[in-house]
Amino acid sequence: MQLCLVGINYNTAPLAVREKASINVERLAESLSSLRRCIYHGVILSTCNRTEIYMSGSDSATLEKAGLRFLESLTGDGGVSCADFNYILKNIEAAKHLYRVAGGLESMVVGEYEILGQVGQALEAAEKAGMADLLLSRVFQGAVQAGRRLREETGISRNALSISSIAVNLAEEALGRLVNRRMLVIGAGEAGRLVVKVARDRGVSRIAVASRTHRRAAALVQKVGGTPVGLDSLPQELAAADIVITCAGAPHRMLGAEQIEKAMQSRQGKPIVIIDIALPRNVEPEVGSIPNVSLRNIDDLTSIYESNREGRLNEIGMAEGIVEDELIRLADWWKTLEVRPLVSALMARAEEIRDRQLNKTIKKLRPLSAEEQESLEAMTKSIVNKLLKEPIQYLKAEGDGEHARLISELFQLDAEKHK
Ligand SMILES: NC(=O)c1ccc[n+]([C@@H]2O[C@H](COP(=O)([O-])OP(=O)(O)OC[C@H]3O[C@@H](n4cnc5c(N)ncnc54)[C@H](OP(=O)(O)O)[C@@H]3O)[C@@H](O)[C@H]2O)c1
Repeated sequence: MQLCLVGINYNTAPLAVREKASINVERLAESLSSLRRCIYHGVILSTCNRTEIYMSGSDSATLEKAGLRFLESLTGDGGVSCADFNYILKNIEAAKHLYRVAGGLESMVVGEYEILGQVGQALEAAEKAGMADLLLSRVFQGAVQAGRRLREETGISRNALSISSIAVNLAEEALGRLVNRRMLVIGAGEAGRLVVKVARDRGVSRIAVASRTHRRAAALVQKVGGTPVGLDSLPQELAAADIVITCAGAPHRMLGAEQIEKAMQSRQGKPIVIIDIALPRNVEPEVGSIPNVSLRNIDDLTSIYESNREGRLNEIGMAEGIVEDELIRLADWWKTLEVRPLVSALMARAEEIRDRQLNKTIKKLRPLSAEEQESLEAMTKSIVNKLLKEPIQYLKAEGDGEHARLISELFQLDAEKHK
């Protein structure tokens, strides 16, 4: 069984390509249906750092082609293509990449927590769509296990930052102490919650949270503070805010140049800092050219990411050791996956012979009591199990294509039936 990963991430693709390929939670089920038209077994992992397609099947070239076709279908229209920006990894290298992703080693913000949940959710969605086979499930579960272990056993996530907290840091860098500033947060999901929480911890008292669904903004502010507002209040809020942090999962731009120009007129030119951490971006890039508007996006946070990475180099080394350790377990299991149909076929064949021979013998004997019949059953089963135990253990540990062929021929097995 082969594993193949086709993906793009913040290291390989510019923001304009990544936002085309990004798939939010609302579109995930529909996107899995589209992927199924290209390949039967697949998991989509799409976060603000990456869009990756993990696929399994018997032919590696077919998987690669399907993954590329699917990724191109996301980015191909409007003149944006992922062809120059993707990476392809196979088998244990693909699994290693996912283990590193789940551990936060491949994140912009090393050791971030959010990714672990996102890896679990990606598997859950694929399972719900009936697209996760045994290999994909095991690789994703192993990645979550590795991610948990390296957070527990190393300091990689100690005082972990998040993109949301970095956005607040950046606002502080631009405006100085935030205590008396007025903040507008657009988006009331997980990223919005983190932004508000960090801002409240920094003493920001005037925070408006704008959301498409009022109920969600209300629930958020009840937990972490702030005032819920509707998207229809954006003109007034934009006129009053010093800082705007946008983190809504909308597939379209939510703030346009025209709207911000209007807001700047009512502000009489008072400067505003807008930090857009959404992917796709919530704010039209042209907004950055409006006088007195300072617009940053997720890729402008790079210098902070890099200093965070440098500060964690020791922990990264230890974390990589854990990834290697977990990969050895995966590789051992993977080997048994290859011989599993053969082992099932061998056991079925032995059971068929045992059952047939026992029934023949019983027919020739005097009528046996239930107890005597049970003893004979148990004795014959025990002989079969003892005879097969060591060959099966050997197959699981050392079995390769050559062993499989030999055993199939010797016992006239049809492993295909047991796949
Ligand atoms: N989670 C993170 O740690 C993180 C970090 C960095 C960046 N981001 C980026 O932040 C954005 C949100 O991520 P999230 O994790 O917070 O997602 P989430 O928990 O699913 O929340 C999404 C939010 O966006 C709103 N939304 C979704 N579609 C919308 C639409 N068509 N129009 C208006 N509002 C819409 C939702 O409104 P409803 O309540 O009405 O559904 C909700 O408030 C994404 O672009 C993501 O890439 C997230």
